[in-house]
Amino acid sequence: MAAVELRQVRKRYGEVEVVRGVDLTVADGEFLVLVGPSGCGKSTVLRMIAGLEEVSEGELTIAGKDVRGVAPRDRDIAMVFQSYALYPHLTVRENLAFGLKVRKFPKTEIAGRVDEVAKVLELSGLLDRLPKELSGGQRQRVAMGRAMVRRPKAFLFDEPLSNLDAALRSQMRVEIKRLHRELGATMVYVTHDQVEAMTLADRIALLHRGVLQQVGRPDELYDRPANTFVAGFIGSPAMNLLDGVLVGEPGAPAVRGPGLLVPLLPGSLPAEVEAGRRVKVGVRPHDLTIADIRVATSGDGFQGTLEVLEPLGWEVHLHVRGEFGPLVARVERQALPTPFGAGSPVRLVVDPTKVHLFDAETGARIGGDA
Ligand SMILES: Nc1ncnc2c1ncn2[C@@H]1O[C@H](COP(=O)(O)OP(=O)(O)OP(=O)(O)O)[C@@H](O)[C@H]1O
Ligand SMILES: [Mg+2]
Repeated sequence: MAAVELRQVRKRYGEVEVVRGVDLTVADGEFLVLVGPSGCGKSTVLRMIAGLEEVSEGELTIAGKDVRGVAPRDRDIAMVFQSYALYPHLTVRENLAFGLKVRKFPKTEIAGRVDEVAKVLELSGLLDRLPKELSGGQRQRVAMGRAMVRRPKAFLFDEPLSNLDAALRSQMRVEIKRLHRELGATMVYVTHDQVEAMTLADRIALLHRGVLQQVGRPDELYDRPANTFVAGFIGSPAMNLLDGVLVGEPGAPAVRGPGLLVPLLPGSLPAEVEAGRRVKVGVRPHDLTIADIRVATSGDGFQGTLEVLEPLGWEVHLHVRGEFGPLVARVERQALPTPFGAGSPVRLVVDPTKVHLFDAETGARIGGDA
């Protein structure tokens, strides 16, 4: 049974529609990450699931039950926000117990649940401290603990880590993942950070301007982005997307554009896709390799000039400019020719199996079933 199900859900504020027909099924026990740029409607979707916003149109069920009109507190859902205000004058133990106390749980039941949650979150030694005596990460764990003691059907997280520094964020990511495995609870997690989405999710739902662009496992979105928006959003540095035109015989297709010639895998194009079609050719920075500029070839690849070289330890990022515009390549430091620096001519090539193609007008993926 699906834990959370949205069918053609819409949200309007007056004339403005900010969630535009979202279909989404979150399976029981699944960790679903809702990701997208600022203002795309993530929090609005989450708040509709929680019952903090009304659904303007469409269906919303939790555990098979229509929850439209059901008050937030009766939805058996716990929400953890970005700004997790703990009660400053209450100890960690009292903060954890608060929600159960309000709901008039028996004292022994409360004590048992608080101890259990404290153990899972490694807060047992901190139960008598006040929030101000905790680190940011510890406070974050107390906030999660407050949600956990209620044993809800589902957890909703809205950017719970965005107040933390980078090191703590990556540590908390690991903890949340571990928690999910231990609790086996359904989790819907909102973030604008694609790294968080990739590392945490069983499945990612990518939202843009209130419309779902693609829903799938992290590797599916990465390997087979459904359109140029997904292609550019998932992965860092972002996928290069350059203008070109399909050329060649059906047996030897290629994309040609200013400063670029990219051979495609024979047979990789659907039959209805014909030469002359304007496309965006997509290449991930690490799928580019430096070709030896001195060796004469058919001239395939991307011809440009190195503008900036960013050293990052074992790898370097090459910012190259050609007639096609700017391009980023991510290569091993070992692979750099010598001498090599700003102003050096460079030709980058890509394995035809690594090339992504999109329609120039619609941005939709061409080829394959994504
Ligand atoms: N109460 C409201 N009245 C009118 N417009 C609103 C209201 N709440 C949100 N919006 C608009 O709806 C859109 C979606 O907002 P939402 O908060 O869901 O975005 P988000 O994806 O969570 O963004 P962020 O990553 O910045 O938190 C935004 O354009 C926002 O301005
Ligand atoms: Mg938000």
